[in-house]
Amino acid sequence: MESLIKKRLVPVDLLYADLPEAANDNPTTNAGPVLVPLVALGEPMDRVRHLQDTWKGRVQARTQAAFHAPPVVGSISRDRLVLESGVAAACLAKAAGKKWIKTRMSEEVSRRWDARSVDRLKRVVRQTSRKVFYNPIFHAAFRRARTSRPESIRLDRITRLLGPLGEGLRGLDIGCNMGYMTHAFQRLGVDMTGIDFDPYHLSVAEALSETYQLNSRFVCCHLQRFEPEGEYDVSIGLSVLYHLFFNQEQRQPEAVANRVGRLTRHAFFWESGDQPEKEIALIRTHAGLSEYRSLGVTHGTGKTREFGVFLRPGTWLSKALAARYEKQFPRARQRSVVARLK
Ligand SMILES: C[S@@+](CC[C@H](N)C(=O)[O-])C[C@H]1O[C@@H](n2cnc3c(N)ncnc32)[C@H](O)[C@@H]1O
Repeated sequence: MESLIKKRLVPVDLLYADLPEAANDNPTTNAGPVLVPLVALGEPMDRVRHLQDTWKGRVQARTQAAFHAPPVVGSISRDRLVLESGVAAACLAKAAGKKWIKTRMSEEVSRRWDARSVDRLKRVVRQTSRKVFYNPIFHAAFRRARTSRPESIRLDRITRLLGPLGEGLRGLDIGCNMGYMTHAFQRLGVDMTGIDFDPYHLSVAEALSETYQLNSRFVCCHLQRFEPEGEYDVSIGLSVLYHLFFNQEQRQPEAVANRVGRLTRHAFFWESGDQPEKEIALIRTHAGLSEYRSLGVTHGTGKTREFGVFLRPGTWLSKALAARYEKQFPRARQRSVVARLK
């Protein structure tokens, strides 16, 4: 403990903890503690309520004490900061809207944290005169960078649903932009490929992959011209398909949905444009991903969007995800959000 270095600022969204997971949640691993991202615990207030239920009122005293002693990061694993203590304090910090919090870490962990270089990213930013990023960058040098979508609500909800099921899967992020979700899924153990047709965005994604040392692959191409290496267990298409459905491929939205279906074995995480019902109907009908679960609405870039997951009926992963959905998401969110948008 003497070697602890005080007051290292770290991004809340990279904090992970060993938490118990119920045996039937994950058919692929044994029951027992699993490494769970704090974001996986969902919207932070849900986490706080969960802690209150679990600890029956003792949470206040404990967390107050925890606030006096910053959380301790015990190790770094796959660009995740694994907490040794202070889980409640970290959750409450996130609930309070903090994006970065003070932690303590050993010299060794601190050295590894500092070894994450942003030299390549800085070069890309200089060359492209980039001023605004779509999503946050988890490195101190870019802590104050302007972002179009600073919120982590999508990541929170996806990771809460996916939990430990991601380990060992193959994934595809369609319209990945700077690779925010690609990297997040890679941290959860999904072997990720990100595609985007904009080389400017991909140069940032690739530089970040180097910073985070995550080895995600990125391919610069249009979705309809992408040559996949096999099938993907999960795919992601956040705020992107509406461009293809209604602007780029106006005469062939069915072919776009069909393409998503052929690329996706089990589940497709999706966020809409401003015609969610039309997008849902296209995906359910033409991608064969006919089961839809709403994960709520989001409010990025000034728009209200539908956000959810499509499942291919009957596969082992879709069954596991459907079971987790029942458990992890309160009843209110299971109502069709699309209906409320009308
Ligand atoms: C609104 S951004 C969403 C970025 C990311 N999915 C997210 O939600 O954080 C849409 C992204 O899709 C990409 N895109 C649009 N049409 C595409 C296409 N036909 N093929 C590949 N990428 C595309 C754009 O370049 C852009 O980076």
